[in-house]
Amino acid sequence: MIIKSLDHLNSISKKIADKLSENDFIYLTGEIGVGKTSLTRNLINYLQEKEGVKTTEVLSPTFNLLYEYEIKNYKIMHYDLYRIKEEKELVNLGMFSEKQKAVRIIEWPQMIKDRFKEKLEIELNYTNNENEREVSFKGFGKWSNFKNEL
Ligand SMILES: Nc1ncnc2c1ncn2[C@@H]1O[C@H](COP(=O)(O)OP(=O)(O)OP(=O)(O)O)[C@@H](O)[C@H]1O
Ligand SMILES: [Mg+2]
Repeated sequence: MIIKSLDHLNSISKKIADKLSENDFIYLTGEIGVGKTSLTRNLINYLQEKEGVKTTEVLSPTFNLLYEYEIKNYKIMHYDLYRIKEEKELVNLGMFSEKQKAVRIIEWPQMIKDRFKEKLEIELNYTNNENEREVSFKGFGKWSNFKNEL
């Protein structure tokens, strides 16, 4: 599917946000600068507004690896694993903790071994048009039919 503009990206982000619940995993793959953080920012700011919590800046976790956002019933953990070399480093980042009521949104998730049931994999690609992107979805569990719900 083609994302025609930043506005269009925003509307897709909202549809993902409306379906989110604790223990969901969102994987974001695609080249540097393709729009992974932009999608996440739209999604978090939309949920903050919808749930009546303060709208915050959503920065790229490139150096911090993880930023967290409190949304009413759960939190969002936004990861950027570009610099992570070994999967075991993720334990300290709370990736596998089932005690937390959290949605995890993960940029550069390639190094995670697959084990999550409720997961949406999103792949973004550049097109010849500067403000356009190609997106594909692969869903598991409750996300398995997501691309047909758009
Ligand atoms: N349709 C679009 N969808 C997404 N981003 C777009 C679109 N059109 C333009 N852009 C621009 O592309 C850039 C995407 O940057 P962003 O930081 O979101 O990428 P990223 O995939 O997170 O990169 P990185 O791998 O470095 O973390 C932004 O400047 C955004 O405004
Ligand atoms: Mg990013």
